[in-house]
Amino acid sequence: MVELIGLITDRDEVRRIYEFIKAHPLDYPNYADWIEKCRRQLELEEKGAIYEMSDGRIIGCIVYQQHREDRHCLEIKNFRVDTHHRHSGVGTRLEQRICRIARASHLHKVYCDVSPSNQDMITFLLNKGYILEDKEPLYTRNRMELIFSKFL
Ligand SMILES: CC(C)(COP(=O)(O)OP(=O)(O)OC[C@H]1O[C@@H](n2cnc3c(N)ncnc32)[C@H](O)[C@@H]1OP(=O)(O)O)[C@@H](O)C(=O)NCCC(=O)NCCS
Repeated sequence: MVELIGLITDRDEVRRIYEFIKAHPLDYPNYADWIEKCRRQLELEEKGAIYEMSDGRIIGCIVYQQHREDRHCLEIKNFRVDTHHRHSGVGTRLEQRICRIARASHLHKVYCDVSPSNQDMITFLLNKGYILEDKEPLYTRNRMELIFSKFL
Protein backbone atom coordinates (compact mmCIF):
# COMPACT_ATOMS: atom_id res chain seq x y z
CA MET A 1 0.00 0.00 0.00
CA VAL A 2 1.40 3.42 -0.92
CA GLU A 3 1.53 6.26 1.57
CA LEU A 4 -1.25 8.57 0.37
CA ILE A 5 -0.36 12.12 1.21
CA GLY A 6 -2.76 14.84 2.33
CA LEU A 7 -4.86 12.68 4.66
CA ILE A 8 -6.96 14.48 7.28
CA THR A 9 -5.81 13.92 10.83
CA ASP A 10 -8.00 16.47 12.61
CA ARG A 11 -11.47 15.28 13.72
CA ASP A 12 -12.93 18.80 13.42
CA GLU A 13 -11.75 19.00 9.83
CA VAL A 14 -13.37 15.63 9.10
CA ARG A 15 -16.60 16.93 10.62
CA ARG A 16 -16.55 20.04 8.41
CA ILE A 17 -16.01 17.92 5.29
CA TYR A 18 -18.78 15.57 6.40
CA GLU A 19 -21.16 18.53 6.88
CA PHE A 20 -20.31 19.82 3.38
CA ILE A 21 -20.84 16.51 1.58
CA LYS A 22 -24.01 15.91 3.60
CA ALA A 23 -25.40 19.32 2.58
CA HIS A 24 -24.49 18.73 -1.09
CA PRO A 25 -25.92 15.30 -1.93
CA LEU A 26 -24.96 13.60 -5.17
CA ASP A 27 -27.17 11.46 -7.33
CA TYR A 28 -26.10 8.06 -6.01
CA PRO A 29 -28.22 5.30 -4.49
CA ASN A 30 -27.85 5.10 -0.69
CA TYR A 31 -26.00 8.43 -0.53
CA ALA A 32 -26.98 8.88 3.13
CA ASP A 33 -25.33 5.56 4.06
CA TRP A 34 -22.30 6.39 1.93
CA ILE A 35 -21.56 9.66 3.71
CA GLU A 36 -21.63 7.95 7.14
CA LYS A 37 -19.19 5.33 5.85
CA CYS A 38 -17.13 8.07 4.23
CA ARG A 39 -16.84 9.92 7.56
CA ARG A 40 -15.50 6.80 9.27
CA GLN A 41 -13.06 6.18 6.44
CA LEU A 42 -11.80 9.77 6.60
CA GLU A 43 -11.26 9.37 10.35
CA LEU A 44 -9.41 6.10 9.76
CA GLU A 45 -7.35 7.80 7.02
CA GLU A 46 -8.55 5.26 4.45
CA LYS A 47 -9.80 8.18 2.42
CA GLY A 48 -8.40 11.68 2.06
CA ALA A 49 -10.03 14.98 1.21
CA ILE A 50 -9.03 18.37 -0.09
CA TYR A 51 -11.19 21.42 -0.03
CA GLU A 52 -11.29 25.14 -0.69
CA MET A 53 -12.82 27.66 1.70
CA SER A 54 -14.38 31.09 1.41
CA ASP A 55 -15.57 33.21 4.36
CA GLY A 56 -14.83 30.35 6.73
CA ARG A 57 -16.99 27.83 4.83
CA ILE A 58 -16.09 24.95 2.55
CA ILE A 59 -17.12 25.79 -1.03
CA GLY A 60 -15.63 22.85 -2.89
CA CYS A 61 -14.26 19.45 -1.97
CA ILE A 62 -12.78 16.26 -3.39
CA VAL A 63 -12.81 13.03 -1.39
CA TYR A 64 -10.27 10.55 -2.71
CA GLN A 65 -8.68 7.19 -2.03
CA GLN A 66 -6.12 4.85 -3.42
CA HIS A 67 -7.93 2.78 -6.06
CA ARG A 68 -9.11 -0.44 -4.38
CA GLU A 69 -8.15 -2.70 -7.32
CA ASP A 70 -5.55 -0.78 -9.29
CA ARG A 71 -3.25 0.17 -6.42
CA HIS A 72 -1.12 2.47 -8.57
CA CYS A 73 -4.02 4.84 -9.13
CA LEU A 74 -5.95 7.46 -7.22
CA GLU A 75 -9.74 7.45 -7.29
CA ILE A 76 -11.91 10.54 -6.91
CA LYS A 77 -14.96 9.52 -4.86
CA ASN A 78 -16.81 12.79 -4.43
CA PHE A 79 -16.03 16.01 -6.29
CA ARG A 80 -18.34 18.93 -5.71
CA VAL A 81 -18.21 22.71 -5.92
CA ASP A 82 -21.03 24.63 -4.25
CA THR A 83 -23.39 25.91 -6.97
CA HIS A 84 -22.90 29.55 -5.87
CA HIS A 85 -19.13 29.32 -6.38
CA ARG A 86 -18.93 27.58 -9.75
CA HIS A 87 -17.16 28.97 -12.83
CA SER A 88 -14.58 30.85 -10.84
CA GLY A 89 -11.78 28.30 -10.94
CA VAL A 90 -12.45 26.33 -7.71
CA GLY A 91 -12.97 23.02 -9.54
CA THR A 92 -9.87 23.56 -11.66
CA ARG A 93 -7.69 24.27 -8.61
CA LEU A 94 -9.04 21.22 -6.74
CA GLU A 95 -8.44 18.96 -9.76
CA GLN A 96 -4.87 20.30 -10.08
CA ARG A 97 -4.23 19.65 -6.39
CA ILE A 98 -5.54 16.09 -6.62
CA CYS A 99 -3.13 15.40 -9.50
CA ARG A 100 -0.26 16.81 -7.43
CA ILE A 101 -1.24 14.56 -4.50
CA ALA A 102 -1.37 11.53 -6.79
CA ARG A 103 2.07 12.29 -8.26
CA ALA A 104 3.58 12.95 -4.82
CA SER A 105 2.11 9.61 -3.66
CA HIS A 106 3.77 7.89 -6.66
CA LEU A 107 0.44 7.09 -8.31
CA HIS A 108 0.30 7.37 -12.07
CA LYS A 109 -3.37 7.69 -12.93
CA VAL A 110 -6.54 9.37 -11.61
CA TYR A 111 -10.00 7.81 -11.96
CA CYS A 112 -13.38 9.47 -11.60
CA ASP A 113 -16.74 7.85 -12.23
CA VAL A 114 -19.69 9.92 -13.35
CA SER A 115 -23.33 9.23 -14.01
CA PRO A 116 -24.15 9.47 -17.77
CA SER A 117 -26.64 12.29 -17.15
CA ASN A 118 -24.06 14.51 -15.41
CA GLN A 119 -23.11 16.62 -18.41
CA ASP A 120 -21.35 19.38 -16.40
CA MET A 121 -18.95 16.93 -14.83
CA ILE A 122 -18.37 15.02 -18.07
CA THR A 123 -17.50 18.24 -19.93
CA PHE A 124 -15.27 19.38 -17.06
CA LEU A 125 -13.33 16.08 -17.02
CA LEU A 126 -12.90 16.01 -20.81
CA ASN A 127 -11.56 19.58 -20.70
CA LYS A 128 -9.06 18.53 -18.03
CA GLY A 129 -7.66 15.74 -20.22
CA TYR A 130 -9.60 12.72 -18.91
CA ILE A 131 -10.72 10.03 -21.32
CA LEU A 132 -13.70 7.70 -21.10
CA GLU A 133 -12.12 4.38 -20.18
CA ASP A 134 -15.02 2.12 -19.31
CA LYS A 135 -18.68 1.82 -18.34
CA GLU A 136 -19.80 -0.25 -15.37
CA PRO A 137 -22.96 -0.66 -13.26
CA LEU A 138 -21.09 0.42 -10.10
CA TYR A 139 -23.98 1.43 -7.86
CA THR A 140 -27.14 -0.06 -9.30
CA ARG A 141 -27.77 -2.78 -11.85
CA ASN A 142 -29.85 -0.64 -14.17
CA ARG A 143 -27.41 2.30 -14.50
CA MET A 144 -24.02 2.24 -16.16
CA GLU A 145 -21.52 4.71 -14.67
CA LEU A 146 -18.96 6.29 -16.97
CA ILE A 147 -15.41 5.74 -15.76
CA PHE A 148 -13.02 8.51 -16.76
CA SER A 149 -9.28 8.41 -16.25
CA LYS A 150 -6.22 10.56 -16.77
CA PHE A 151 -2.59 9.44 -16.93
CA LEU A 152 -0.26 11.72 -15.00
C1 LIG B 1 -17.81 20.24 -12.55
C2 LIG B 1 -17.54 21.18 -11.39
C3 LIG B 1 -16.66 20.46 -10.37
C4 LIG B 1 -16.79 22.39 -11.94
O1 LIG B 1 -16.46 23.25 -10.87
P1 LIG B 1 -16.13 24.80 -11.12
O2 LIG B 1 -15.60 25.35 -9.85
O3 LIG B 1 -17.30 25.47 -11.73
O4 LIG B 1 -14.95 24.67 -12.19
P2 LIG B 1 -14.06 25.85 -12.77
O5 LIG B 1 -14.60 27.17 -12.41
O6 LIG B 1 -12.66 25.57 -12.42
O7 LIG B 1 -14.21 25.58 -14.30
C5 LIG B 1 -15.48 25.50 -14.92
C6 LIG B 1 -15.47 26.39 -16.09
O8 LIG B 1 -15.42 27.75 -15.67
C7 LIG B 1 -14.37 28.43 -16.37
N1 LIG B 1 -13.77 29.39 -15.46
C8 LIG B 1 -12.77 29.18 -14.62
N2 LIG B 1 -12.45 30.30 -13.98
C9 LIG B 1 -13.29 31.27 -14.46
C10 LIG B 1 -13.47 32.65 -14.19
N3 LIG B 1 -12.69 33.30 -13.32
N4 LIG B 1 -14.46 33.29 -14.84
C11 LIG B 1 -15.23 32.65 -15.72
N5 LIG B 1 -15.10 31.35 -16.01
C12 LIG B 1 -14.14 30.67 -15.39
C13 LIG B 1 -13.40 27.39 -16.75
O9 LIG B 1 -12.70 27.79 -17.91
C14 LIG B 1 -14.27 26.21 -16.98
O10 LIG B 1 -14.75 26.20 -18.26
P3 LIG B 1 -14.23 25.14 -19.28
O11 LIG B 1 -14.37 23.81 -18.56
O12 LIG B 1 -15.14 25.30 -20.42
O13 LIG B 1 -12.81 25.52 -19.51
C15 LIG B 1 -18.85 21.68 -10.74
O14 LIG B 1 -19.72 22.12 -11.75
C16 LIG B 1 -19.55 20.62 -9.92
O15 LIG B 1 -19.31 20.49 -8.73
N6 LIG B 1 -20.44 19.85 -10.55
C17 LIG B 1 -21.10 18.74 -9.91
C18 LIG B 1 -20.08 17.67 -9.56
C19 LIG B 1 -20.63 16.28 -9.55
O16 LIG B 1 -21.71 16.00 -10.01
N7 LIG B 1 -19.84 15.34 -9.02
C20 LIG B 1 -20.23 13.96 -9.05
C21 LIG B 1 -19.21 13.11 -9.70
S1 LIG B 1 -17.71 13.00 -8.79
